[in-house]
This record gives sequence, C-alpha cells and structure tokens, in this order.
Amino acid sequence: MATTRDVILAAGREVPAPGFDVRKIREHFPILKQKVYGKPLVYLDNAATSQKPQVVIDALVHFYTQGCANIHRGVYQLSERATQAHEDARSKLQRFLNAGDPREIVYVRGSTEGINLVAQTYGRQHVGAGDEILITALEHHSNIVPWQMLCEEKGAHLRVTPINDRGELMLEEFEKLLTARTRLVSVAHVSNALGTINPVRQIVEMAHARNIPVLLDGAQAAPHLKVDVQALDCDFYVLSGHKIFGPTGIGALYGKASLLESMPPYQGGGDMILSVTFEKTIYNHIPNKFEAGTPNIAGAIGWGAALDYLTQVGMENISSYEHALLAYAIEAIGQIPGVRLIGTAREKTGVLSFVVEGIHPHDVGTILDQEGIAVRAGHHCAQPVMARFGVPATVRASLAFYNTKQEINALAAGLERVKAMFA
Ligand code: ALA
Repeated sequence: MATTRDVILAAGREVPAPGFDVRKIREHFPILKQKVYGKPLVYLDNAATSQKPQVVIDALVHFYTQGCANIHRGVYQLSERATQAHEDARSKLQRFLNAGDPREIVYVRGSTEGINLVAQTYGRQHVGAGDEILITALEHHSNIVPWQMLCEEKGAHLRVTPINDRGELMLEEFEKLLTARTRLVSVAHVSNALGTINPVRQIVEMAHARNIPVLLDGAQAAPHLKVDVQALDCDFYVLSGHKIFGPTGIGALYGKASLLESMPPYQGGGDMILSVTFEKTIYNHIPNKFEAGTPNIAGAIGWGAALDYLTQVGMENISSYEHALLAYAIEAIGQIPGVRLIGTAREKTGVLSFVVEGIHPHDVGTILDQEGIAVRAGHHCAQPVMARFGVPATVRASLAFYNTKQEINALAAGLERVKAMFA
C-alpha cells in the first residue's frame, strides 16, 4: 500500500505513466501560456470549466471555415459532411462512455439540460402524487431543482440521502430511503463542491434490486475517471462537453435504448418528427426524437476532437496523474495553519474545498487572482452542501491533468500571502 509520502514523491516526478508528460500536455493548451497581472496564469477552476486543447480550437475553426452547413436537411455535399461529422462525434461519445449503441446518446446543452430532460419526460410519465425521488445531500443545484419542480407539479416528495463529516454518502441511510414509492434515484457520480467519488455501482445495484432506475450526474466524473455506462449499469448518465475540454453549450444524455424509446419527447420542433399533419405528428426515432431544432453542430464536432485527444492521452493516465497531484495538494494546502479542508472523503477526485480562518472566501479568491491564481469562491451551486458543513461558502481549487506541483506550490504561497494581509 503506497503511503501519502510515496504518492507525493510520485507526483514530484510529474510522470506517473509512460507517455504522460505534463510539460508536453501543457503545450497543447494555448491559454495556459498567458499571464494575468504579469504573473503566469495558474488555472485551478477546472470544475467550473476546463481549458481547451488546440485540436478542439482547430476543429471549431475548421468547421466554420470549411464545413459549416445545417445537418440532416441538405442534399448538398457540405450538409452531408456536417451531418457526418456531427454523427461521428456521437459515435466517439458512445465509445468514450462505452455505451452499447450511438442511438443511446442524446445531444443536449449540458448536464443540466440532460437532467431536466429526464425530469420532464421520464419523470412526468412515471412520477405521481405521493411518489418519491431520491437524491443526496451532495448534489449540485441542477440535480435538485428539476426534481423539486417535478415534485411540486405532481405532489411527489424529494428524499435526500445524508452525508457524513467527511462528505461521503451514508449508504445504509440510502438503502433505508429506497421505498416502494421511490420512482427514480438521481446521484452525482462525483461531487462538484467536495470531489467525493460516490459508490455509484453499489447505488445502482441497490436501486435495481428494487426495480428503481438510476440517473448518474457525471459532469464532474467524466473529466477525471474512465466511465463505462454498461459496467455501471446506470439507466441515465449526463455529462457536459465544456468540463471535458470541449466547447460550451454541448453535452450528452446517455439513456438505455429501451427507456429512451418508451419516453415522450422533450421539446417539439424540426428534426424530432417523421411526419407532421395538423391532425397528428409521428415522432422521430431515438435519439433524434429528443433533439428538436438545429443543434450545436460545431460544439459536437469540437467535443469529438476533445474526446479523441483524451483517448490519446489515456483516461487511466489522467486519473493516476491527478490522483498523485491531489495527494500532493492535500498535503501542501491542508497543513497550512488556519486552512480547513471541507470534504475529506477517502475516494476523491481533484477538488480542494477549504476555508481560511477569519477570512471570507471571496476575499481569498480576489487576492489569489492578483497572484494570477484562478479559483472559485462561493457556494459552488451546492448550497445544501455548504449548509451541511456550516459554512456560507468555500474556496475551491479544482485540478485538471495539465496542472502541476509547481502550481500547487504557487497556491500555497498565495494563501500565505492572503493570511499575511489579514494578520
Ligand atoms: N457546476 C460548475 C461548478 O461546479 C459551474 O463550478
């Protein structure tokens, strides 16, 4: 069993696996070369959005300079090429998630829209008065509010699995909250505010033992972990392109084909129909049934380029590098007097949420910005998590595989400066 010190030493080498060299990786991200207030940018807000490699930027430029046309409509070559590229990206996503069929991948704007889609289709179809939807105390607002809206409309109840002081789900409580009235379980794969990796395979097993479907919010997991929706056996999985080194405004909902087929459409419009008369409309097949209107074509193609890039780097390499970097960061930041880490789960991705004694997180964030260090300060769209830990806000440094030990050292030095200013 590796000790923390071993892990730190491994991180110190910055090369945890053959073929992974963080200095080379950083060359692929042009934005990382810039200075802020004359200091090198230290970008540690990856849970909010990730930076884009040049291949993604090139794919967007190429689409708009060489390939722009609407899809599924034109009989001309440019439109056929755009359609092909858009559908190729869907297949890349299918392989990235190990879904069984590209028809199980529905393009949406992001994880938030994916959850709303399920709430407004599957949810409205299956949830009635007195029924229950089970979430957890770790959720982002996007995995709370859509269910509250549905519960309000239907007279159903939202149930919440508690977390312990480390920020881990209390599985025994989760199991007790699965009842004959539970119609759906919706859980973050990874918490955005704390980085906790939830035991989602176990959650799916427990819910399926009672024939309850499970939606996993993978927005914060897919950038860091190898996701295999078939191995997880989840019914729905949502993710956002911009958090996985792709463009903003594109995301995906994975759904088991049989479920997607049985669900009513989400929005009406062009592309989601086979035929329309004033008397009756026949809806398109999945996934198009859920994709009304002109989609984010360039976004999908750019995301496809990001997935190719990640596949080349290797998700296993990314996970192992980030794991070592996180261990280093926990040691470096957690031991600073006056800094309290919030969320100390045993299974975590690269999120460091913390408070500095006597200093408001917004002040910490603003002073760090003067040092070129970008972190998020606030409630992270997870106010119930803040309430659970009795803080109004935290500072959150969130890692990606292009971050380095030197950047963690810069954060530690920045925090010492913050403390000195308030001493
Ligand atoms: N959901 C994003 C975050 O956690 C915006 O910062």
